[in-house]
Amino acid sequence: MKLQVKNICKTFTNQKQEKKVLDNISFNVEEGEFVTLLGPSGCGKTTMLSIIAGFEKNDSGVVELDGEVVNGANPDRAFVFQNYALFPWMSVKNNILFPMKQQKIPKDEESKRLEHLLQISKLKGYEDLYPHQISGGMKQRTALVRALAGKPKVLLMDEPLGALDLIMRRSLQSEIGNICREEKVTVIMVTHDVDEAVYLSDKVILMSTNKGEIVHELMNELPRPRDRYCEKYKDYCEMLIKKISERGAI
Ligand SMILES: Nc1ncnc2c1ncn2[C@@H]1O[C@H](COP(=O)(O)OP(=O)(O)OP(=O)(O)O)[C@@H](O)[C@H]1O
Ligand SMILES: [Mg+2]
Repeated sequence: MKLQVKNICKTFTNQKQEKKVLDNISFNVEEGEFVTLLGPSGCGKTTMLSIIAGFEKNDSGVVELDGEVVNGANPDRAFVFQNYALFPWMSVKNNILFPMKQQKIPKDEESKRLEHLLQISKLKGYEDLYPHQISGGMKQRTALVRALAGKPKVLLMDEPLGALDLIMRRSLQSEIGNICREEKVTVIMVTHDVDEAVYLSDKVILMSTNKGEIVHELMNELPRPRDRYCEKYKDYCEMLIKKISERGAI
């Protein structure tokens, strides 16, 4: 087991009103697994991911990484934000090099890794441009390989494709899948898109609104690359949509 989320509870207090966002959430993530947290707006996906990242504190329960309780933020859990969060004053290359410089990786290894990451993200030839000079998809690919640059144990992504149009989104879904498999990284991704969850995941964890609980866990057994037009793919999507509407989650 790579990562274990055990009995996590979280309540926010806003203007003296208490809101229980996560109620005893538990799930496991295996080494190399691609897991998505799927659920409608406001169900606590970002809160759950932020607790795993160590950005937010939980009220009770623990998160364990390689059997050790996680305490605060650490580069072993890299985070990709919805709005890219690139450094605008740095070129694509320097954005990707940033985590490696922090980790003081030897120079020759650093340039080899940079080359590899530019290749797999199809950013070769664009490395000297600045974030304002590249497209949304290229920004997202830069953010993804920057997060991978420091070889994190777990990659956390919060709606990484939320800002993109459908065509760009589909093409990046396929690239994200390829890049993560190439890097053999363990991934937890947040999305509210049923198709995206089925397309990318080994395991889909469905969360419900207002109850702060897990409604269903789906193990996706379809071979990769995934074929959106096969019957089983459609069945998975239909089943998840049905579960969501049964629970009145959307
Ligand atoms: N810092 C905070 N203080 C108070 N309430 C918060 C805070 N962060 C989140 N919440 C509340 O917790 C609930 C869950 O928020 P969260 O951002 O985790 O949802 P989400 O599933 O990521 O939604 P979305 O899909 O819209 O991003 C919401 O009702 C939100 O208002
Ligand atoms: Mg969110």
